[in-house]
Amino acid sequence: MEKLIVNGGTPLRGKVQISGMKNAALPIIIASLLTEDVCVIENLPAIIDVSLALNIMERMGCRIRMLSADTVEIDSRGAVGGITPVELVSQMRASTYFMGAELGRWNESKVGYPGGCDFGVRAIDQHIKAFEALGAEVSVDGGYVRSKAAGGLRGTSIYFDVVTVGGTINAMLASVKAKGTTVIENAAHEPHIVDTANFLNTCGAHITGAGTDTIKIRGVEKLHGCTYAIIPDMIEAGTYMIAAAATSGALLISNVIPKHLESISAKLEEMGVLIEEYDDSVYVTRSGKLNHVNVKTLPYPGFPTDMQPQMGVLMCLADGMSYLSETVIENRFKYVNELQRMGANIRVTGHTAIFDGGAPLTGAKVRAVDLRAGAALVIAGLTIPGITEISEIDHIERGYENIVGKLTNVGADIRKVIFSDSLAADEA
Ligand code: EPZ
Repeated sequence: MEKLIVNGGTPLRGKVQISGMKNAALPIIIASLLTEDVCVIENLPAIIDVSLALNIMERMGCRIRMLSADTVEIDSRGAVGGITPVELVSQMRASTYFMGAELGRWNESKVGYPGGCDFGVRAIDQHIKAFEALGAEVSVDGGYVRSKAAGGLRGTSIYFDVVTVGGTINAMLASVKAKGTTVIENAAHEPHIVDTANFLNTCGAHITGAGTDTIKIRGVEKLHGCTYAIIPDMIEAGTYMIAAAATSGALLISNVIPKHLESISAKLEEMGVLIEEYDDSVYVTRSGKLNHVNVKTLPYPGFPTDMQPQMGVLMCLADGMSYLSETVIENRFKYVNELQRMGANIRVTGHTAIFDGGAPLTGAKVRAVDLRAGAALVIAGLTIPGITEISEIDHIERGYENIVGKLTNVGADIRKVIFSDSLAADEA
């Protein structure tokens, strides 16, 4: 069993280079299936989920070749649909994109029901609604989602009942080669949706309006391969911004798109954090006390739900009462129990967590209950003089490239240790 041992209390100082965005890399890797050609994808983050997605593509018959640490060549000419391994697909929510990509290429799809971070029920009814609107028959049985459009996919109008990142991307993947034009209404606006649309357009698609409520896709006969660089990860950047603020440090966070960070920067400045914006970097420092604040997560460009646990840690350190409302994901407060073990004074009522902050946290043995919760617990440990032990860290490594190395480079005392099961049993 692997754990992170954090010996905190030191302000983080120095420069952090942000990697490519996980939630853009995953749909773009999978979208390359639609080109039936060779694609080169650059600025890939070296994280578990990217390896998993490439592994699944290889099992489908794609030829995968790493040209460098962050650049992959994907030849999808030999790919076969309907054979994605269910034991791999079930590990990652982004596996839903295989449904849209297979449908878009072969007019049919068979993919295991997706898994991923456990936030309660993560429906895919809107994905299915989009596929059916395009003319596919969809059934869910035996743990698989099967879709088939015997007469081919036809352009249509799709109105999403809820704003859904995955649903919006999947509708784009399925419709990009449909006969006719598809209009997606009430689409999600996230930068990774724009990045996926830009990738597909570079491959010869005709997608307009990505990043707005309405996306129009004019179907094309064929797509071709391309070379494409993934956008920087705004959530990784936001995580390090909060780490700088939490430890009263000073970090230059480079390889970012400041526009994507606006809602995060605005909230941090409200708390008294100083942020200087440059073309492709932000400099974040905090010297005085943190002001309490109220935050509500919203679809982009609102405050991101994927920054919610990290903001919760900052609220523990801010004097007074802070309120954190989660409006996007059903159940994303599991990390609160772990922070309470560190002495945090938090009460959860419905979709809102109430933080009575200001008291210092104390080191403890805690669990990374999901990806962003794990990152939040690392930040909490970095603020505490003394040892914090974080287990189940594979969650963290699903979405953060070299988090130990990046933090060590800016002064953190953090290391990954491997416990044998017997020792772990002793530990427990
Ligand atoms: C994506 O998940 C991200 N994952 C999540 O990031 C992120 O939290 C989420 O978008 C919201 O921004 C990836 O991109 C791989 P949704 P996704 O479809 O696509 C409901 C991380 O930490 N809904 O926008 O699954 C759903 O239940 C991960 O990197 C339906 O009701 O999110 C959820 O409450 C965690 N029916 C809400 O919408 C549907 O058919 C938002 O889901 C689809 C969604």
